[in-house]
Amino acid sequence: MEIRVVAASLTEVPADAVVVNLFEGVRTPGGATGAVDRVLGGTLSDLIAAGEIQGKLHETTLLHVSGQPFRRVLVVGLGKPEEFSLLRAGQVAGTAARFLQGKGCRHVATILHGAGAGGLDLTPAAIALVKGTLTGVYQGDLHKTTDRQEPRLERLTVVEHDAAKVPLLEAAVRQGQAVAEAVNWARDQVNEPSNVLTPQEFARRIQALADESGLEAATYDEDGLQALGARAILAVARGSEEPPRMVVVRHRGRGPLLAFVGKGVTFDSGGISLKPREKMHEMKRDMAGAAAVVGALRALATAGVDLNVVAITALAENLPGGRALKPGDVITALNGKTIEVQNTDAEGRLLLADALAHASDLGADYVVDLATLTGACVVALGHQASGLMGSDQALLAALQAAGEEAGERLWPLPLYPEYREQVKSDVADLRNTGGRPAGAITGAIFLQEFAGNRPWAHLDIAGTAWREEEAPYAAKGATGVGVHTLYNLALRLSGEATPS
Ligand code: BES
Ligand code: MN
Ligand code: ZN
Repeated sequence: MEIRVVAASLTEVPADAVVVNLFEGVRTPGGATGAVDRVLGGTLSDLIAAGEIQGKLHETTLLHVSGQPFRRVLVVGLGKPEEFSLLRAGQVAGTAARFLQGKGCRHVATILHGAGAGGLDLTPAAIALVKGTLTGVYQGDLHKTTDRQEPRLERLTVVEHDAAKVPLLEAAVRQGQAVAEAVNWARDQVNEPSNVLTPQEFARRIQALADESGLEAATYDEDGLQALGARAILAVARGSEEPPRMVVVRHRGRGPLLAFVGKGVTFDSGGISLKPREKMHEMKRDMAGAAAVVGALRALATAGVDLNVVAITALAENLPGGRALKPGDVITALNGKTIEVQNTDAEGRLLLADALAHASDLGADYVVDLATLTGACVVALGHQASGLMGSDQALLAALQAAGEEAGERLWPLPLYPEYREQVKSDVADLRNTGGRPAGAITGAIFLQEFAGNRPWAHLDIAGTAWREEEAPYAAKGATGVGVHTLYNLALRLSGEATPS
């Protein structure tokens, strides 16, 4: 999609549709909505007075008009002003874009949502607009041969009446585009079925992405993993014919080294501790953490951010084969710690044990891991927030702020030392399950043993990595959660507000 910023009044821009907005409770539209109302002779005010436009969140009202440079007007509802946020600014942009794409519009002109009466800062509002639009039109029907919804929206014009703001907006548009394209790349990987996206294929795609984006990448195959001592990754993969991989992607620049570690289970059957059949197909998406960390590096590279980041992905398939890991087995992770495997379905923490230890060996100054780690996190927070856990309050605060600015919610769960009792084993240093109480937390408590002493945080994205139902602003399936948060975190830790 081609995205331009123009200094103009929205009413003079030629387009298939122009998008304006309305907060709930507003009777007399102001700003650009007011300007469009005036050229339409008060039609919008009339519809508001009649109660046909209420400004409720994601409400869409489409008007066909004649005698104007634009052929349609879409009024999108912003909801209650006191509930407005960057999250909603992005969603509303997605709702508008998705709706208009469905009507066959190719060229849409829009104002920024929330930068005026909404009180949002210009740059994050513009990033949210662009990201919301590009992620909103994403379809995710990769393997349909008929009835495929072709992406039709070709051009987005962001209209700003103040010419002085245009350079800032143009820079924000570039960032939003870099982030959104990385989010949609991550979604494509997560939506792939596991027979297509095997660990080897995923590794190839990561390597290809790195080559295209000017990132360095190194892939560890079975021999490489053996040589490295990544025995936990090898152990998880033993039940499958598909060999595991670990891919390390680097973006070189200045400042401290930031490591992003992702769980990449291309299919999680549970292994010998087999999962029930009903929802097992969803476990093709158990690699969303790996997709997100690579996506974040892609976004940073595209936006030209100058700093040191490494993404480490542990890729494997968890199946109950004849050589599979069995409950009761004891394995030794990369850092030498021994693990009693009480449940082969707690495989993510085994992969991450090695990957986190490797991040530590690479000398990372900050380590953040992302994983669809526990069903318990979905029970705790549902689908509205990812679980946020870690050892360093400053890093946790930076992550939460980075998430806020990305429209991705992270909610903290405590890592009290007393929880360590739950992962003690009679026969090894640790066991890989902590029983039913505080399942999301004990997952993190386990990981902590492999993260070393550096500031480390863990995001459990089990409830946020995909959407069960289509939303007005997004297709169902993978969300690409984490890409934008990690991108923002990297900018924060490098002290760089806007990339050049
Ligand atoms: N990939 C699952 C977690 C998951 C469940 C993600 C539902 C998304 C939706 C993970 O590997 C797993 O199976 N975790 C176990 C851990 C338990 C055995 C300690 C779980 O949550 O039951
Ligand atoms: Mn599992
Ligand atoms: Zn899993």
